Amino acid sequence: MKVFISGNIAESGVKLLEENNIAVTWWKENRQITVKELIGACQDVDAFISVGPNKINADFLNACKHLKVIALHAVGFDNVDIKEAKSLNIPVGNTPGVLSGATADTAFLLMLAVSRKAFYLHKKIINGQWQNYEPTPELGIELNGKTLGIFGMGKIGMEMAKKCIGAYGMQVVYHNRNKNEEAENEIDAKYVSFDELLKQSDVLSVHTTLTPETKDKFNIEVFKKMKPESIFINTARGGIHNEQDLIFALQQKIIWGAGLDVTNPEPMNKDNSLLNMESVAVLPHIGSATQKTRSAMANLVAKNIIAGLKGEKLPHQIW
Ligand code: DGY
Repeated sequence: MKVFISGNIAESGVKLLEENNIAVTWWKENRQITVKELIGACQDVDAFISVGPNKINADFLNACKHLKVIALHAVGFDNVDIKEAKSLNIPVGNTPGVLSGATADTAFLLMLAVSRKAFYLHKKIINGQWQNYEPTPELGIELNGKTLGIFGMGKIGMEMAKKCIGAYGMQVVYHNRNKNEEAENEIDAKYVSFDELLKQSDVLSVHTTLTPETKDKFNIEVFKKMKPESIFINTARGGIHNEQDLIFALQQKIIWGAGLDVTNPEPMNKDNSLLNMESVAVLPHIGSATQKTRSAMANLVAKNIIAGLKGEKLPHQIW
């Protein structure tokens, strides 16, 4: 049996595959593989491990005739045509759970960095602009006792909420399609309407999936309903906020700041005006990038592939 991996995964996962007599080949270039190249690489393999935002669309799925299973090295699956995979009977797995803590850490890091303008001030030092001790430099805002709004209270949202409660005694409100009983009972999070979420949040952190309903959800009309001192955090998918509207909202001081681990497109262009704003912090989609989490993800994708090649249900199967 053969598997193709479209990027690097932790060695433990590769070892697991090889111990199960699965031959591994992978994409070694330091750029995203194109759909055409992906189709070429997956022509004769039985399984595919997708690392990064590969377009797993109908063209790809229909062109790779031998594929028996696909494992995403990610929890998000907005890049996959699940309906088509289902119709072709190719199971698709992902890696939920293991990356919640690390991704919430990234959201927390961005929140704190934005609140103290840390990335902007760091850049000033690099540019030789630290001249003396300034009593009123670019002042930040404090988070103690503020209200955290979670858009999409799942595993990652819960982790973010727990960190904010522990560190700053923040109150938590959330908006979901359905109430999350665990969040209400365990951390006293309050379910509110979307408009209330916008109205009440001092920090609004996005932890939902990208779907046609959430695409461009955070647009200028939405930012206008948020507090002028609020911070917008997105560690989910760049497509959930409208970038031009976010830039406008920040420039016009409609909201105070933004922390992004995800952008649209990715990679973000180095001339993007967000990168020069005082209360903005941007990271290159590193939400789950810790050694521990990436090993756990590699082990999960390997287990999904091994099960799929045996014709068994995947331990974490999307469909
Ligand atoms: C995920 O797990 O979905 C991460 O964003 C990696 O793509």
